[in-house]
Amino acid sequence: MMNNTARAHTNIALIKYWGKKDADLRLPLMSSISMTLDAFYTDTNLVLDTEDKRFYLNGELVTGKASERVISYVERLQKLFHVSGNFHVISQNHVPTSAGLASSSSAFAALAASFVKAYQLDISKKGLSILARLGSGSATRSIFGGFAIWHQGQNSATSFGEAIDETPEMDLRMIAVELNTKQKKISSTQGMEMAKTSPFFIPWIHENEAQIIDMKAAIENNDFTSLGELAEQNASQMHAVNLACETPFTYFEPETVALIHLVQDLRKQGLECYYTIDAGPNVKILTELRNSKEIQKAVKQLLPTVKIVESGFGPGIQYLNEQI
Ligand code: PMV
Repeated sequence: MMNNTARAHTNIALIKYWGKKDADLRLPLMSSISMTLDAFYTDTNLVLDTEDKRFYLNGELVTGKASERVISYVERLQKLFHVSGNFHVISQNHVPTSAGLASSSSAFAALAASFVKAYQLDISKKGLSILARLGSGSATRSIFGGFAIWHQGQNSATSFGEAIDETPEMDLRMIAVELNTKQKKISSTQGMEMAKTSPFFIPWIHENEAQIIDMKAAIENNDFTSLGELAEQNASQMHAVNLACETPFTYFEPETVALIHLVQDLRKQGLECYYTIDAGPNVKILTELRNSKEIQKAVKQLLPTVKIVESGFGPGIQYLNEQI
């Protein structure tokens, strides 16, 4: 069996993508900037010439909607490159203690990379990020390590990811706090559509350009305070957009709000940290290495049963048989 296994790490947006201008091509209405994480990744092997089309995740056959999404994505890439045939997608998600982090960024980045390898296509990382984007918007950024930007672009060719700094000096840590909630969430696709009905949606888009410039400067200047302030502000704005929709909604749970207050209190006490929150109730706390343990202790004190995973910077896309 050919080993086409690609490994992609999950990323968390510091300046977020929340709104599409083209749903089919997944063209965003704004650019976004992220941190790739070392603690969370997906390994995917696309095996060709099989008897049928299947998707296995963590050793189990996946059926239904999740499988359809993966299989139709591979078929879409096959059409793009004028190739065909059956295949199995074999994925392993390495997300310790299921920290509730969206895995679609690493999933579709790994799958796009494995596809390119399986069909021996000569594609640049920029091209790969465009292919990953067709599976999931956030996957565009997971092709790169460290800090990455996804340029919104005006069409498929100009909407791609790029590394800002793959080996940052900043000792930035992200503490993922998984809350014990089972509530069904509104998917990011649904949430983004609903967001368009918010009176804050247009201002949200307008803010983006300046925030991208400021975030790039914070990264270049190794300025953790500006990075954290901007990330927190950007996340809060995204969630404010949702709360002001025609049919208001929020991903926040009571514990989400409790953690927001905790981060604000810790800051007042001199422990510098900031929060960011995506399309779910879990909170990610941004801090520096020297304060990380103390902040985790405070989280555990407030919410003793939550799961916490700390992460640093992860690398960009890798092929496993090319390692070592
Ligand atoms: O591309 P998706 O469906 O994983 O949506 C990502 C949405 C956010 O995580 C909230 C923001 C982002 O830029 O990753």
